[in-house]
Amino acid sequence: MGIRLNAVSHVYTAINQTPVEAIKNVSLSIHANDEFIALVGETGSGKSTLAQHFNALMAPTSGEAQLFDVSITAETFKDKKIKKTPIRKRIGLVFQFPEYQLFEETVLKDVAFAPKNFGLKDAEANELAKHALELVGLDESYYSRSPFHLSGGEKKRVSIAGILAMEPDILVLDEPTSGLDPQSQETLMQVFQTIQEKTHTSIVFITHDMNWVESYAKRVLVMHQGELVFDGTPGDLFNHPELKTWKMDEPDRIKVLNEIKTHLKTPLKSLDFNAVIQAIKTEETS
Ligand SMILES: Nc1ncnc2c1ncn2[C@@H]1O[C@H](COP(=O)(O)OP(=O)(O)O)[C@@H](O)[C@H]1O
Ligand SMILES: [Mg+2]
Repeated sequence: MGIRLNAVSHVYTAINQTPVEAIKNVSLSIHANDEFIALVGETGSGKSTLAQHFNALMAPTSGEAQLFDVSITAETFKDKKIKKTPIRKRIGLVFQFPEYQLFEETVLKDVAFAPKNFGLKDAEANELAKHALELVGLDESYYSRSPFHLSGGEKKRVSIAGILAMEPDILVLDEPTSGLDPQSQETLMQVFQTIQEKTHTSIVFITHDMNWVESYAKRVLVMHQGELVFDGTPGDLFNHPELKTWKMDEPDRIKVLNEIKTHLKTPLKSLDFNAVIQAIKTEETS
C-alpha cells in the first residue's frame, strides 16, 4: 500500500479570515504500483489541498494520512522525530507551473539537484538525472543547455525529470498540462503513459480536461466542494447521473456522439461509433 487517507479534513485558518474547510472527510487508497489516476473537480473543489496531503506537505486538521509506513496526523506532523523527507522522496509532487522553480544553470544540474540533496554522490545523481531526462524524452543535447531558454513544454519536462530523478514510487502532478499548447499537452500525456508503463510508477494527475481523463486514466477521483464524490473508472464517471452536478464536462468524443444521436431516428444500443454508423446505415437503406 502506498497512500491511505482515513477521514482526512483540512481547514485553512488565517488571522481575520473565516476558516475554509477545503477538504472534508476524505478516505481513499492509492497503490504504490501501476495506478494511473486522474483527480478532477471544479476550481476550488480541493484538488491541490488533497494532493499536498499525499506527500506530507500538509497535515490533516483531522483524520490520518498513512503514507507508506508513516502515519501523518495533526499531532505527528509537528513531531520532529517523524521525518517527512523520505516520504517526499517516495511520493513526488510536481506543483502547477513547476517551471518557475527551475534555477540551475544547466538542465542536467537542475535535474540532478534533488538526488544530490537527498545525499547521493555527484556521479550517481548525474546518472539518475540522465535516466530521468531520457524518460521525459529529452536527449543529451539538452544536458548543458540553460533551462531558462527552453520552450514551456520542455521546461515542464525538465521539472518533471527533477522529481523523477528521485525515483519516486508515486508521482503526483498538479495540472501538469496547464499553460501548454494542445500539441505539447498531448506529448506530455504520452510521456506520463510511457513512464507508467516502463517504471510501473503510480501516477496521479490533476486535470480539467476530460479528453485526457478518457484517453489516459484507469481510475478517476472527483472532488466536489471539498468532498470526494466519485472513485471509479472513466467509463462509469461519464455515465454518472450526477456528472453535471459536479460541474464535470464530457470528453469531446461523447459530445460528438450525443450530438449525432439527436439527429438520428433509430434508437442507439450504445453510445459508440459502431452503433452510430450502424444506425446511419439503417436509416439510409430504409
Ligand atoms: N492557503 C490558503 N488559505 C486559505 N484558503 C485556501 C488556501 N488555499 C486554498 N484555499 C481554499 O481552499 C479551497 C480549495 O482550494 P484548492 O485546494 O486550491 O482547490 P483546487 O485545487 O481544486 O482549485 C478553496 O476554497 C480555496 O479558496
Ligand atoms: Mg489547484
